[in-house]
Amino acid sequence: MSSFALEILGDCHDRASFSSGLEPVDRYLRETARGHFAKGVSVTRVLVDCESSTPKPILGFFTLSSITVDAKDWPGSPKGLPKHPVSAVLLGRLAVAESSHQRGIGSMLLASARQLARETIHRTGGLGLVVDAANEQVVEFYARFGFRRETSTGLRMFLPAASLEGGAEIPRG
Ligand SMILES: CC(C)(COP(=O)(O)OP(=O)(O)OC[C@H]1O[C@@H](n2cnc3c(N)ncnc32)[C@H](O)[C@@H]1OP(=O)(O)O)[C@@H](O)C(=O)NCCC(=O)NCCS
Repeated sequence: MSSFALEILGDCHDRASFSSGLEPVDRYLRETARGHFAKGVSVTRVLVDCESSTPKPILGFFTLSSITVDAKDWPGSPKGLPKHPVSAVLLGRLAVAESSHQRGIGSMLLASARQLARETIHRTGGLGLVVDAANEQVVEFYARFGFRRETSTGLRMFLPAASLEGGAEIPRG
């Protein structure tokens, strides 16, 4: 039986063949993610089958970075926040290869992103995990995991630090 590993995106991964069905996200993986990592902008992690050989097919990926947010009025934010923006972790992108949708991989990737966000917040502080959902359908996906909209109609969603526990994680390579 094959098992999965979560690795930081590198030269050994087959970015060109990845297709999630959402072109801007796929293009980010192909064209931008490596450069952003090299410049310290963000970190992209990819899910691979441990048995796969180079170039390793990418089953899914997500990207994390730091942001500052003015979250005084966000659902689940603590009361009495400072007036200036405070730090949070941004889940910039999350996608699963179209051929592997609906098999729980997105849920696993999200659990790993939550775990990494929790570790960052334990070390340096932070309000929680923020995501900009690509569209209304994806809002429903994130809402299943406790994310709430920042405003009633916008696509920015938030999961407070206290809610970051949970989910089946993937071993990190
Ligand atoms: C959204 C996405 C990551 C979900 O990945 P996945 O591996 O198919 O998700 P899972 O199999 O873990 O599904 C978990 C649950 O969410 C539901 N779900 C999956 N995709 C959904 C979607 N787009 N909208 C609403 N619910 C969704 C599943 O039905 C499942 O529900 P269940 O537990 O009741 O069966 C995947 O569809 C994808 O890559 N889409 C294209 C890229 C994209 O839109 N990324 C988000 C950018 S912000």
